[in-house]
Amino acid sequence: MNVHDSEKILGVLDAEGYKATNDPLTAELIILNTCSIRQKAEQKFYSELGRFRALKKKKPGLRIAIAGCIAQQEGMKITRKAPYVDFVFGPQNVHLLTKFLKDNEPHIATEDNPDIALHELPVIRNDRIKAWVTIMYGCNNFCSYCVVPYTRGRERSRPGHAILKEAAGLAESGCREITLLGQNVNSYRSDLDFPGLLREIDKIEGIERIRFVTSHPKDLSDALIDAIAELPMVCEHIHLPLQSGSDAVLQHMNRRYTYKEYREKVEKLRNKVPGIAITSDIIAGFPGETVKDHINTVNALHEIEYDGIFAFNFSPRPDTGAAEMDDSLPQHIKSSRLYEILAVQEKITARKNKSLEGTRQEILVEGKSRAGGKQISGRTRTNKIVTVETSDCTEGTLMNVEIVRARQHSLEGKLPKE
Ligand code: 5AD
Ligand code: SF4
Repeated sequence: MNVHDSEKILGVLDAEGYKATNDPLTAELIILNTCSIRQKAEQKFYSELGRFRALKKKKPGLRIAIAGCIAQQEGMKITRKAPYVDFVFGPQNVHLLTKFLKDNEPHIATEDNPDIALHELPVIRNDRIKAWVTIMYGCNNFCSYCVVPYTRGRERSRPGHAILKEAAGLAESGCREITLLGQNVNSYRSDLDFPGLLREIDKIEGIERIRFVTSHPKDLSDALIDAIAELPMVCEHIHLPLQSGSDAVLQHMNRRYTYKEYREKVEKLRNKVPGIAITSDIIAGFPGETVKDHINTVNALHEIEYDGIFAFNFSPRPDTGAAEMDDSLPQHIKSSRLYEILAVQEKITARKNKSLEGTRQEILVEGKSRAGGKQISGRTRTNKIVTVETSDCTEGTLMNVEIVRARQHSLEGKLPKE
């Protein structure tokens, strides 16, 4: 979501005649687009910001802007700590950048902007083949650990016609894969609901693959499962964060499902969409998490057998409910639980990847592999990276390959004989 927000910021700047540079020394304007989902991201921001102070001293005309969720959360506090910052604007106020650039006044824009879904912001994308498309803003779920509802505001869906127009334009310019973005895409609702939106995008000529993130388990409907099963362009992959395998912790997290309910949805998905890849997020060491709660999470990983997970230690965030809870679990226990979760999953991922050896997979060619040589790299419909040795590298083409070897984080494929 943040990377795509940066693409929107670049779009607004491009419309004002700015050109991007990766060299801070030549820049007239430096924007830090920040994330505050965990404390670590916030610490990274403050240490980065310090580096620009010296730069501004050397180059007084330089303007510095802070965007993103830390901007939203901290607002004026940032300019108090760092008076050399010119603009602070949250994710709901990107459209105001045009106005800020026109005068020499400092600006802070952290107001809620319910109309953000109606602003059609220009976008500059780096990738020609794959594109993110925002379908909704904000979140109403208030999971007790999460800062997003506070920084990105209430849920607002972008009108269906605007999304379809953007998707059609992307298809026309050569884009092959679209990832629909929202904090909780399942609760998308405008003139269309989410399965309805998928059905319309599926009809667009040229779009070969449709993905979406993120889905909240409580809102994963039968209609959505049917749409994934039926629509040829919708890929067989869902990111469905479980967060914890313990009902007590899920309740404290305000997730509004039980582990059993989650399992039933996974079963339905697997029955209706054979071979679907399922990935997840897990939080280790949530306040009050007992040894038994942790074991439940580890057992859940064994039972569900995800294709991959992102796991993090709990990090208290300002204004959230969980920040007020008793977080007295020692750090070494939190870390060892996280370590165990990651180690268990690593084996499961390796086993799952191994089971793909000898199978045929369709990949969308993304370009030359980072490993160099004649290797190209692409992704399966289930979102796994495959590298293939071939001199034929046409970005954006679909290729059928045979998986010959599973590596730790990717698969190795070859072109089939016939
Ligand atoms: N601490 C740790 N992890 C968090 N996440 C969100 N907020 C926190 C927090 N305060 C994780 C969740 C979410 C993912 C995007 O980040 O697992 O699904
Ligand atoms: Fe945060 Fe929960 Fe909303 Fe996801 S669904 S953005 S975790 S509040």
